[in-house]
Amino acid sequence: MSIRPRHLMSRPLHGGTNIAELRSLGLRPEDVLDFSASINPLGAPPAAALAMNGVDLAAYPDTECTALREALADRLDVSTENVSGEYILVGNGSTELIHLTARAYLHSGATAAIFTPTFGEFEAACAMQNARVIGIAANEGDQFSWRIKKAVSTIVEQSPTLVFLCNPNNPTGRYMSEEDVREIASALPDDSLLLLDEAYLPFVDTRWNSFPLLDLGNVALLRSMTKDYALTALRLGYMLASPDVVERIRAQQHSWSVNALAQTAGIAALADTAHVEDGRRAVQDAKRYLIDELAALGLHFIPSAANFLLVHVGSAKVLRHMLLKRHHIIVRDCASFGLPDYIRIGIRTKKDCNRLVAALRDVMEKS
Ligand SMILES: Cc1ncc(COP(=O)(O)O)c(C=O)c1O
Repeated sequence: MSIRPRHLMSRPLHGGTNIAELRSLGLRPEDVLDFSASINPLGAPPAAALAMNGVDLAAYPDTECTALREALADRLDVSTENVSGEYILVGNGSTELIHLTARAYLHSGATAAIFTPTFGEFEAACAMQNARVIGIAANEGDQFSWRIKKAVSTIVEQSPTLVFLCNPNNPTGRYMSEEDVREIASALPDDSLLLLDEAYLPFVDTRWNSFPLLDLGNVALLRSMTKDYALTALRLGYMLASPDVVERIRAQQHSWSVNALAQTAGIAALADTAHVEDGRRAVQDAKRYLIDELAALGLHFIPSAANFLLVHVGSAKVLRHMLLKRHHIIVRDCASFGLPDYIRIGIRTKKDCNRLVAALRDVMEKS
């Protein structure tokens, strides 16, 4: 995997609306139906917005996110002995934690390994450290699965100090088994880290418990409350790792990274114990519907464990543009993942998916 020099790197592309593009089409963000981001289709829990009303805007936020880490430890039941949350580091979105981890584990010329195709911030974070990046590419012919034995031998040969693995993976939706993840973790050299990005895990119907991986000491689990609780505008994510790993990464974080509104909303969101599960069920329902409809349209998609689908469409750029222009619908063009023939559809409610299917049918008939 070649990596551009840092000064030539542009910021990675993401889903979501692009204001300049919308303006060029005479559209406002509220005019479009956005399938390009993959977040809880039910939106944020109402209690989160209410709780923010009580925040004193003139006070500094708690630099340790104490109450939020306690709420997380309580909710996740990480370890009853660690209710103070020393296994937890909160960040300004999980993206911040990706960059802090790269800073803590990569120096100039160090080696990182990334299971690809995947979320663009991993590569960007490595580039900012001037690290050497090894890409471990999934096999497109085998529904984007990885050959684990080959991945393990690459890790053993190249000795990366940081390995990024997204599970389930963005944008393919592949969900690796516990056995395979353990095999990868055990191949890492000493004093290195496997960053297991579980941003989309809450939307997987049949999950395995990744907490026991923390006992290995070289695995950090990354979660995103901007996805499962749809606190997207607030930016909120957290990492679970052994206390020494947390301390090493935390040392890279500035004091007031996570603002008070996000901390308060996060605590209120966690108290809504049904919200994520309700979101997962809504995704499950809409996904079943969408899968049937995409198949009826003759579109090929990759079986996904997550709340999005990677769909083969020919030119993603053209299809995305047509959907936006004619139907005010946005999907993710996967060219930036190196997959210009695919779009990624973030699963919304069944009603929204119904609109997407009608729009896809119309665009496909007219092209
Ligand atoms: C795999 C993955 N990790 C992390 C993130 C970033 O999430 P956050 O909003 O918590 O920074 C994304 C967002 O698209 C993602 O796809």
